[in-house]
Amino acid sequence: MEVEKVQVVASSFLSKGAIPAEYIRPEQEQPSVTTYHGPVPTIPTVDLGDADREGLVRAVAAASREWGLFQVVNHGIPAEVIVELQRVGKEFFELPAEEKEKYASPPGSQSLEGYGTQVQKEIDGKKSWVDHLFNKVWPPSSIDYKYWPTNPPAYREANEEYVKHIRKVANKLFGCLSQGLGLEEDAMKKALGGDDLQYNLKINYYPPCPRPDLALGVPPHTDLCALTLLVPNEIPGLQVLKDRKWYDAAYIPNALIVHIGDQVEILSNGEYRSVVHRTTVNKEKARMSWPVFLEPPMDWVVGPLPQLLTNGEGDDQGSGNPPKYKAKKFRDYMHCKLNKLPQ
Ligand code: SIN
Ligand code: FE2
Repeated sequence: MEVEKVQVVASSFLSKGAIPAEYIRPEQEQPSVTTYHGPVPTIPTVDLGDADREGLVRAVAAASREWGLFQVVNHGIPAEVIVELQRVGKEFFELPAEEKEKYASPPGSQSLEGYGTQVQKEIDGKKSWVDHLFNKVWPPSSIDYKYWPTNPPAYREANEEYVKHIRKVANKLFGCLSQGLGLEEDAMKKALGGDDLQYNLKINYYPPCPRPDLALGVPPHTDLCALTLLVPNEIPGLQVLKDRKWYDAAYIPNALIVHIGDQVEILSNGEYRSVVHRTTVNKEKARMSWPVFLEPPMDWVVGPLPQLLTNGEGDDQGSGNPPKYKAKKFRDYMHCKLNKLPQ
């Protein structure tokens, strides 16, 4: 049986001005109650085209230490490539339900790929106001085109073109993150599987919601991957937790939003922080976002980079930098996180 999508729920509830109880968050989570509106220290913006490499490395490292999230401008991806990525994704979600369902992963399948919505409710029985399309997009050996829509016809080309560009941005960011820890430029990418690094593209579709004050698009979480590079549409909704307050990420046309994920926090032995974030939804308009998750191969072992670890001998305090995280296969890390088991 087909899983009911939020888009279908939304269309039947929109005129009622109400939402089903399973989408109503407890008060301490509701965006209307918990969003911070005071003086806002803004989420950093980094100019990736900056010719001053040292300045760029410092900016990326500072944002990754303090926020774990930043926007990048002058990233080198042509605006028309991003517009086309957004156009085909939006057209897909505007297709009739039965057309989209052709790309749903079969019930009971282990695959996370394809068109879907979160099946499991969260611990408190609540549901997220979002549907998705999920595709592995790189390396070529990982791609399963059966989950790539052939409608709209330009879907594949638009996504492949975007992936070509996003790989260059990812390489540059990993280089800056490595140098920001005083390491060789290729240290971090190598420690994540090098050219076997996996790229997964998700499209999040948050339908208009009659009660955006009560619901959440996605609940608070950190990304389990290494890095997330995200294109939003013009409807704001991403919020970041810092110093126990929820801050809105402003919409900057053409910018990419970079999230530090768990694997980079682990590699850096906690120097960089995996950002806690959530999304809100909009009453009139659909919000959409296109995150690309960069992950090590499933059987790749990730732990704090040995170059960063010291035992304290010869340092002033004698405390050193002992490992704060266990080294483990990405597959096992993922299993523990998804099943809420200790790492
Ligand atoms: C997510 O964190 O999964 C979604 C972020 C977004 O839609 O901006
Ligand atoms: Fe996320």
